[in-house]
Amino acid sequence: MKILGIETSCDETAVCLIKASGTGPEDFTYKVLGNALYSQVAIHAPYGGVFPNLAKREHAKNLVPLLTQALQQSGLLLEGLTFQYSGRSDLPTLLVREPELLEQLTEFLAQYGKPDIDAIAVTAGPGLEPALWVGVNFARALSLVWDIPIVAVNHMEGHVMMSMAQCEVDSEQLTVDRREIASNPSVNCKLSTVDFPLLSLLISGGHTELVLSTEWMKYQRIGETRDDAVGEAFDKVARMLGLPYPGGPEISRLAASAHAEGITEVFALPRPMIGEDNYDFSFSGLKTAVKRLAEAHPDMSDDEKKDLAREFEDAAADVLVAKTLRAAEEYGAQTVLVGGGVSANTYIRQRLAEATAGAGHIQLLVPPPELATDNALMIALPGYFRALKKEFADLTTLRANGNLRLS
Ligand code: KG4
Ligand code: ZN
Repeated sequence: MKILGIETSCDETAVCLIKASGTGPEDFTYKVLGNALYSQVAIHAPYGGVFPNLAKREHAKNLVPLLTQALQQSGLLLEGLTFQYSGRSDLPTLLVREPELLEQLTEFLAQYGKPDIDAIAVTAGPGLEPALWVGVNFARALSLVWDIPIVAVNHMEGHVMMSMAQCEVDSEQLTVDRREIASNPSVNCKLSTVDFPLLSLLISGGHTELVLSTEWMKYQRIGETRDDAVGEAFDKVARMLGLPYPGGPEISRLAASAHAEGITEVFALPRPMIGEDNYDFSFSGLKTAVKRLAEAHPDMSDDEKKDLAREFEDAAADVLVAKTLRAAEEYGAQTVLVGGGVSANTYIRQRLAEATAGAGHIQLLVPPPELATDNALMIALPGYFRALKKEFADLTTLRANGNLRLS
């Protein structure tokens, strides 16, 4: 089965084509046929965070070029094969809020034939609603004219499956900051086999949650952040230290220098909710504590900044690891998985690896670092399994939902 994945939930516009077979993690194999990603980070950087309407506009501008690239790379771009599509008259209504996208898509449809694809998987949520809508409307338009069914994918399930992917992915394959086609990895990829219960720690710019799965593709959230997401805290703390957006990698880099240079501990930060008897998190107090320290030390030296970054990363890791391990013990998790943009963090990965190794026979799954942040492969993967179960969305009622929950 060939699946087209589309992701626009935040500031990454991405399109991916996979060819997959199998029924579950045991016998699943897939190949990435085409993968194109455009990161908007440089555009949002001056604002210190993602500006939803700007994100929406950029998605609308980039979806058709990325689709063209991904199809071309897959050998599925059928040039000169004009075809008569149904629903032509409905397109302007569907894309009324995205005139530039409508124009580009109309041109695209006049130029290229219907590709051999079995389903279109699109992120329906959670995320920034204006951004999500662009992807959803694009998917609906393609579904309408090509007569190909749509699968509505939960972005968080995408992060879960991405962390199970066992694939030698060439880092050239996903490009950041530029629009570029990925090279075609003709290797067969698989998913790790998972022993249940599975506990997933999902940490990103918008989410921090612990999710329990007692069986494949079933999810129960057992804890979440009560305020800021951990990635958001990384981004805000970075800004306080005068570092560019996105701040996660910047903080991580400073903290690593502090470790490497053996900078002595100058600052101390709290570990919010670490001892509380629940699986919830809170990062807003930690962020405020950093703010107070930064205000009290307006002329911080470079070493002090490194130490503050290290202490912040340590505090975040302490809380994430302690709560994850406690939940893993309580629920008898056989597998612990970490996913989402913050799971690219080397230090957090290392701390989780040490903790799970110390806890006995818990298997730890982490995503390939370059696939930890948003991409469309993570959407195509659950798209395949949902398509297999024929969980297709109704074109007329499909909605973007910024608060979509895993269930
Ligand atoms: O999953 P993602 O790409 O987008 C959302 O769904 O939110 O996550 C983006 C977040 C940003 O907050 C970014 O700062 C953070 O992931 N991030 C990191 C690292 N790389 C990305 N945080 C800490 N350390 C990193 N190395
Ligand atoms: Zn994400």
